[in-house]
Amino acid sequence: SNGAAKAGKSRNILEKLDESDKNCVVFYGSQTGTAEDYASRIAKEGHSRFGLNTMVADLEDYDFDNLDQFPDDKLAVFVLATYGEGEPTDNAVEFYEFINSDDISFSEGASAEDKPLANLKYVAFGLGNNTYEHYNSMVRNVDKALTKLGGTRLGAAGEGDDGAGTMEEDFLAWKEPMWTAVAETLGLEEREAVYEPVFSITEKPELDAEADEVYLGEPNKNHLEGSQKGPFNANNPFIAPITESTELFTVKDRNCLHMDISIAGSNLSYTTGDHIAIWPNNPGKEVDRFLSILGLASKRNTVVAVKGLDPTAKVPFPSPTTYDAIARFHMEICAPVSRQLVSAIAQFAPNDDVKAEMAKLGSDKDYFHAKVTERNLNLAQLFDILTKGEPWTQIPFSLMIEGLLKLQPRYYSISSSSLVQKDKISITAVVESISKPGAPHILKGVTTNYLLALKQKQHGDPDPDPHGLNYAITGPRNKYDGVHVPVHVRHSNFKLPSDPSKPIVMVGPGTGVAPFRGFVQERAAQAKAGQKVGKTILFFGCRRKQEDYIYAEEWEQYKNDLGDSFEMHTAFSRDGPDKVYVQHLIEKHADDVNKLLDQKAYFYVCGDAANMAHDVNNLLGKLIASHRNVSAEKGKEIVKAMKASNQYQEDVWS
Ligand code: FAD
Ligand code: 2AM
Repeated sequence: SNGAAKAGKSRNILEKLDESDKNCVVFYGSQTGTAEDYASRIAKEGHSRFGLNTMVADLEDYDFDNLDQFPDDKLAVFVLATYGEGEPTDNAVEFYEFINSDDISFSEGASAEDKPLANLKYVAFGLGNNTYEHYNSMVRNVDKALTKLGGTRLGAAGEGDDGAGTMEEDFLAWKEPMWTAVAETLGLEEREAVYEPVFSITEKPELDAEADEVYLGEPNKNHLEGSQKGPFNANNPFIAPITESTELFTVKDRNCLHMDISIAGSNLSYTTGDHIAIWPNNPGKEVDRFLSILGLASKRNTVVAVKGLDPTAKVPFPSPTTYDAIARFHMEICAPVSRQLVSAIAQFAPNDDVKAEMAKLGSDKDYFHAKVTERNLNLAQLFDILTKGEPWTQIPFSLMIEGLLKLQPRYYSISSSSLVQKDKISITAVVESISKPGAPHILKGVTTNYLLALKQKQHGDPDPDPHGLNYAITGPRNKYDGVHVPVHVRHSNFKLPSDPSKPIVMVGPGTGVAPFRGFVQERAAQAKAGQKVGKTILFFGCRRKQEDYIYAEEWEQYKNDLGDSFEMHTAFSRDGPDKVYVQHLIEKHADDVNKLLDQKAYFYVCGDAANMAHDVNNLLGKLIASHRNVSAEKGKEIVKAMKASNQYQEDVWS
């Protein structure tokens, strides 16, 4: 089921290192591409500064039962993201299970007591989010396991915190002492770093952009040949028709989309509570800006072949393709620009003044924060400002492919019930638009604004593109009729009790109500079919009853179907003189909630991870403590135990 096996490649990392003449492998466990990006950066820097012969490796592509034979003059680096509730990323599951297994056995038959990894020198960095309970548990647990097996870690185990928004700075602060330790232990001399491109970009004037073999955003060969074939998954999205799209808010300045996406005939399936991944493309406005500032506007449809200069370098998109397609479909060109990338690009600035400014931005984190982060600038917007539009023609395009993240799909909690509409997935998405005082640009979320454009296209909106974002709606080759979006399904553990007569309590303010629409829809259908349905309580909150009370009429319908078993409590935070939040209502109905919990009700929280989910968690501990007459500490432990046993489930994002 993995890339290497499919291509008939070896899963033996020792062989791979030997064959490709490498002495350092940087493994990544990545869900959204950030850990993979950090892994490439470590590999690159190890090579350019210390002459290590590095390669990057997907954890999923290798076996680890020969880690006991890892040579002591080589280095293994682990860059590990923690996903959701302390879980490994999908590509790290096997590795994680192996390294933590009680009866771990290596190829030579060594057992844990023999310290089989005595030769292994390793480095570890984790990507986590402190708003989640199991903060950076992947890197912590893997580090513990490797040490226990006799491995020697060089430098500290780094921990980056996305929750605090300091991931990049945590990484930069961690890596310097790490390199010092690595250089000392392996006896490496630091050298003057010279940029060496990872990819070759060869223009193919003999090929027209319209030629059949040129990729114009198609994710793989089947799509290119016009016959999408399953199984559809993260490597092979399904181009799904949008059958319906509506606006849920009644205010002008904010949008919340309801969309129905058809998966009929795709063999994709979901169960209530799963997530759908949506593959966006970048708005034409930003694609234009990006290509112009690099001096590539006139070459945007030039066909290029992109190849790794080293056999271990993976090109992150199919080739041959065009500059336009790379920028539009494959690179996260709208994301905030990182300080390290600014540092790396400084040497290619068009003149000495700009070079000096770039060097300052790259080395002074407060300056960078004020000038770039606080002003919401992406790479091209920063370039534009620095040179007043003069193009940066010295930058090797390879550096752009290396330095920018791959364009990632975004996840949405499915807001329908698979029992009620198994071939049609609903989503409920708030359109992201952030303006900051003093910032020259409004930050427009890539995927949600793309979905908004699709909706406007579908409805023939008279003013379809007020911000001039200019999204490509149909894809370059117009192969599909109507309005479509590439998707895949990700199964989650956020699930209704299998017995519908069990009581449930749901807390979902804002778009956090998305999966609960699915839950209630399901229970309403079960009730209509004559099944016994347990108490179903929903706490919902929004700003104003008349503005963003989403699905208001539907809830009334569900009340009809479910009768007394359905109770909905709504908190409108901006309608009255005082803020009313879902927590206030939970507190008000504490007796009911506690009684249901005594009957082993499932308790669900969905939505904002940063504040709301914490507040609800803390409140519930207190309410339980007072109801059961135990200490606040004990109340917290009870909530923890509820989480461990899946009685308390969260589907949260920040
Ligand atoms: P983006 O373009 O991703 O921008 C959003 C913000 O992220 C901006 O502030 C931007 O500056 C910042 N940003 C972008 N790229 C980077 C980067 N590389 N590094 C740092 N910051 C960056 N949303 C819903 O509306 N409804 C749901 O039901 C829902 N369910 C979700 C379920 C899960 C499990 C998860 C993880 C998320 C869910 N989300 C949901 C959020 C959703 O996935 C998107 O994050 C959201 O819609 C914004 O996407 P966008 O592409 O429009 O914005
Ligand atoms: P506010 O924006 O008026 O502060 C959906 O976003 C709803 O959640 C809004 O009514 C919002 O209120 C509210 N909200 C904001 N912070 C919250 C928190 N910490 N806990 C619960 N609800 C919150």
